[in-house]
Amino acid sequence: MCGIIARVGHDEATETLLSALENLEYRGYDSAGIAVQNGSGVKVQKCSGAVSELKSRLDDRLHGTVGIGHTRWSTHGPPTDENAHPHTDTVGDVAVVHNGVIDNHDELRAELREKGHVFDSDTDTEVIPHLINEHIERGIDAERAIRCAVDELEGSYAIAAIVDGEERVYAARKGSPLVLGLADGGWFLASDVPAFLEHTDEVIYLEDGDFVVLEPETYAITDLEGRPVERSTDTVDWDPGDAGKGEYDHYMLKEIHHQPTALSNTIDGRVDDGTVAFETPLSQLVANIETVQLVACGTSYHASMFGAQLFRSAGIPTEVIRASEYEAMAGPVDERSLVVAVTQSGETADTLDAVRKAAGRGAKSLAVTNVVGSTAAREADEAIYIRAGPEVGVAATKTFSSQAVTLALLSQRLAGAVPDATPRADGNAMLEALPDLPAHVETVLETSRADSLARDLLEDRSYFFLGSGLGHSVALEGALKFKEITYEHAEGFAAGELKHGPLALVTEESPVFAVYTASEDEKTELNATEAQSRGAPVVAVGPNDHPLVDDADAHLSVPDTHPVWTALLANVQLQLVSYHVADLLGRPIDKPRNLAKSVTVE
Ligand code: F6R
Repeated sequence: MCGIIARVGHDEATETLLSALENLEYRGYDSAGIAVQNGSGVKVQKCSGAVSELKSRLDDRLHGTVGIGHTRWSTHGPPTDENAHPHTDTVGDVAVVHNGVIDNHDELRAELREKGHVFDSDTDTEVIPHLINEHIERGIDAERAIRCAVDELEGSYAIAAIVDGEERVYAARKGSPLVLGLADGGWFLASDVPAFLEHTDEVIYLEDGDFVVLEPETYAITDLEGRPVERSTDTVDWDPGDAGKGEYDHYMLKEIHHQPTALSNTIDGRVDDGTVAFETPLSQLVANIETVQLVACGTSYHASMFGAQLFRSAGIPTEVIRASEYEAMAGPVDERSLVVAVTQSGETADTLDAVRKAAGRGAKSLAVTNVVGSTAAREADEAIYIRAGPEVGVAATKTFSSQAVTLALLSQRLAGAVPDATPRADGNAMLEALPDLPAHVETVLETSRADSLARDLLEDRSYFFLGSGLGHSVALEGALKFKEITYEHAEGFAAGELKHGPLALVTEESPVFAVYTASEDEKTELNATEAQSRGAPVVAVGPNDHPLVDDADAHLSVPDTHPVWTALLANVQLQLVSYHVADLLGRPIDKPRNLAKSVTVE
């Protein structure tokens, strides 16, 4: 949902900015731009299209040691050259990049127009450089002018600005992520750590209201009025190699194959002799909790469905709510409720909003997230990290698996803490089977026939995914992944729902993926057979020991283990199917059209 980068150092900034933008492209890729300041004015180059397009248009004016950059996911105005960031004031002395939404941009634009400002774009951002210019024209210095302009903005923003004649970057944040990277030989500011991970792992996560001034030798963090604020330095424990594609054609394929490692990290040190303990004890948080709400969007919602079933089977009254529908769908909450935000990025606006609403009504809050220092992690009372490592492909894969496992562990942790909860009868068996999960995923990756199956599916018209219980959440996730990266029509159903409507869509050209987790899963078998008798090819997805294996037209096999983990193994098979179909169709797998990885607007 837009990525910003800023660089101040002693070396050439242009190449560094461009490579940082490539690392941020998962946040938006419909236009890109950079601006550098080099003693002969602020130079801007921007265009619609990906960073590769920007690179191909770059001219040799763009030299300098101070610069800013942006990769865009459009919210205000279509992806055109004019709407690409950086935006400048009329004379081109001030350049600004922005992630967020300026709510009062219409009012500001009208006021500035009356004062003679002329605008070139449809974006909300363009008012910012004009506003800064207006304050500079009043005779105050650039820093004060930027502070005054920021003070007038309503909405959410992470902003970086450069001004002609100054070897400085100014930045401010409110409601959109911004992290300062401390490298030898200069500083970075970015929406997310992967932007500069190859240069440094020393970071400062900025807070709302922070105002930053970067100079080649120093940096200062203050509040908007200029009072210094203390922020701690963190060391990120992600490997710089995690930020690249490595030997794989796509980030998504790399991330699917990284799942054994990601899951080992998720589990590491958290289960001992049948007892689950996270790094944060959670005792205070859950002391008086009677009910739980899981709130999430998209893939994280499917992981939450999976988790909610385990919470309920541990006797914990649990709701799972799509964050965007929180107001309409959530039951009552109070100080005896725990709201759990399940969000890979920790920045999804709908999820943050739902948690704020619940917390405003007295609920305790817990973030289950992949990103240390993210807004969800900072705003919630406590955070548990899924430890999947950076995920760059827009389609979430390894983070789904790591979220699901983290929630399964959390269900066991809470079962011992929530009054009247009765831990699930097979909880110990589930935990005992968990250490084998990474190796089982490895087996699926090594033996999967999803690539050859994908070839047989290319001519079909619609793709249906069925499952019951945990298989239902996997079926929904399988359909979401499929439509997201193949652009083909796909739908997921609870198996028993098929005959209540969707069966009307079933034809010989609508393969049905039937996800089952255990041999006693009859519902999926019966409904898949219904579809088959209407001509639909059926692909059984699950362990070998199931009646459907013999009847189905194809079988994607997973190792036999505890049914909770079987569901996740089935999901890995479906990830591979989606990937291979999308690849054969030549889709831009890592950057599907119209999507962005981190959805920071409602
Ligand atoms: C789909 C996908 C999205 C995200 C959703 C929530 O592959 O990645 O559906 O799951 O946008 O994102 P987070 O988890 O960052 O809150």
